[in-house]
Amino acid sequence: MNIILLGPPGAGKGTQAQRLVERHGLKQLSTGDMLRAAVKAGTPVGLQAKAVMEAGQLVSDEIVSALIGDELDAMGAGTGAIFDGYPRTAAQAESLDAILASRGRQLDHVIELEVNEDALVARITGRYTCATCGKGYHDTFEKPKVEGTCDKCGGHEFKRRPDDNEETVRTRMAEYRAKTAPILPIYEARGIVSRVDGMADMDAVTASIEAILA
Ligand code: AP5
Repeated sequence: MNIILLGPPGAGKGTQAQRLVERHGLKQLSTGDMLRAAVKAGTPVGLQAKAVMEAGQLVSDEIVSALIGDELDAMGAGTGAIFDGYPRTAAQAESLDAILASRGRQLDHVIELEVNEDALVARITGRYTCATCGKGYHDTFEKPKVEGTCDKCGGHEFKRRPDDNEETVRTRMAEYRAKTAPILPIYEARGIVSRVDGMADMDAVTASIEAILA
């Protein structure tokens, strides 16, 4: 099973992808996470991507498509993928078709998380992750069970993303409207798009996605 999760920044793509990984043994392929890892490691890709990401703009199509191809090659052929934050432009959608076809894979579902953008700023500016295992949390919506301790790995260090401030979030949303939302009709024409109310609580969103995959 190969799935695209689509939605603006803060729609819950990463949150739901983590749940699908746990329930279905799929692999989450987040281009945002890959780019952040490259920035942290100071690789040539990371050096190119850093300022672009901090401004809330999109990194080049060639870079992200190459990252996705490499990750798919590193996965077992029998493991399904959740594309989280990719594709984000018509050129990336076209590249993904070629990347999947050349590896004997096909897209099964494109799931759009429909959300109210104004509510997303609060979601994004309140989020943080465990510095050790990457589990996501939120100041209001998803706190660790024991304050200061990660539920998943017991770690005590947490971090916030440098692009999670209101100004950058607004730019990221504008990029989504201008470049990413227009790719939906490509998949609608193939009859593989489903829509989920991303403003519902997290468990309800998960249940709606599970109903689509059943
Ligand atoms: P990326 O890392 O992909 O960020 P994004 O698309 O902006 O998405 P987010 O991670 O911000 O949001 P999300 O939908 O995953 O929400 P989450 O689940 O965390 O990209 C970052 C940057 O990298 C881009 O700006 C660009 O520069 C570059 N980049 C990446 N991919 C690229 C590509 N393909 N091409 C070019 N450039 C690329 O949820 C947010 C918060 O809300 C969390 O705290 C969560 O706990 C909470 N929450 C989630 N669901 C709910 C709910 N139902 N109710 C209440 N709270 C909820």
